[in-house]
Amino acid sequence: MKIQSRIFGTLNDGREVRLYTMTNVAGSSVSVMDYGARIQAIRIRDKNGVFTDCCLGYNSPEEYQADDAYMGALVGRVCNRVGGAAFSLGGKTYTLSANEGKNQLHGGFSGFDKKIFDLTDVSDDTLCFHCLSPDGEEGYPGNLHVWASFRLDDENRLTLTCRAVSDQDTLVNLTNHSYFNLSGEGSPTVLDHVLRIDSDYVTENGPGTLPTGRRLKVSGTPFDFRMGKAIGQDIDREDAQLQLVKGYDINYCLNRSEKAAVSLCSPVSGIRLDMTTDLPGLQLYTANFLDGRKGKAGIPYGPRSAVAIEPQFWPDAMSHPDFPKPVLLAGQTWESVTTYRFSLI
Ligand code: GAL
Repeated sequence: MKIQSRIFGTLNDGREVRLYTMTNVAGSSVSVMDYGARIQAIRIRDKNGVFTDCCLGYNSPEEYQADDAYMGALVGRVCNRVGGAAFSLGGKTYTLSANEGKNQLHGGFSGFDKKIFDLTDVSDDTLCFHCLSPDGEEGYPGNLHVWASFRLDDENRLTLTCRAVSDQDTLVNLTNHSYFNLSGEGSPTVLDHVLRIDSDYVTENGPGTLPTGRRLKVSGTPFDFRMGKAIGQDIDREDAQLQLVKGYDINYCLNRSEKAAVSLCSPVSGIRLDMTTDLPGLQLYTANFLDGRKGKAGIPYGPRSAVAIEPQFWPDAMSHPDFPKPVLLAGQTWESVTTYRFSLI
């Protein structure tokens, strides 16, 4: 394993951003930057032995700064939506910054995606980043320390371990927001990718893409990926839940089984991704709102040119009594482990 580091560029206020690249014995490599602890590239050999960059991204920090798609980022303190930008915990109500209408999305105006993390540890095959979110930031209680470590092993497994501690009871729901296209970033679509999700239920979306609180069985609906099917097979079916968000943008309640939560395969490159996680949910998002910005190879990224599979607690969990809670109590440690394993079909 080899880890290299270089200056990636500067943000528009002049702050420097560094990019770290881990390369394993197979020659696969993963690049992560300290700005937003973002994954910038994942290069895997395809079925013809050609290295293929499997995730969307940009060539400079300025482009990441200008983009509002959370490209590759570590999203927090609380990813996804918090309805009414408020929650109650321990008898107190906290008001958050509202950056999407009346709601909060992905941690507010200045979430983790916009912070420069410090690199706390580099070992043989692991990069560990840290940031401190001060008490009250974006409305959340507690000084929150977050560590995100990225490990690439020689079996092409990328493991993301997140930890957090706080000095007050608070909420934490961290995810990675990589956009995957296993045919190679810049390929026009992921509609041909075969996706399997080990989940029997989604949480129904209502106005503002907030959960209504109801769980819907996937059986017999376009949301059923249990046996694996092409993402494009049912995406344009007449279905109120699909039409509300112009494709897939919904939380899956993951089954607790031994299977990988998600498998994704490109018939073009032969690259397969299996994701396992200890988190209870997964936001499936078919990049419905990508606006055609040009990516790493200068090719515009449009809707459905990638898919985000975001492991997380179910959205707006504090508003729904029976949703698992992303609560971190003072002095305890929040932890999640997600593994992305790349192989050939
Ligand atoms: C996703 C979310 C989408 C959209 C996107 C960012 O995680 O589910 O609704 O907000 O992030 O553009």
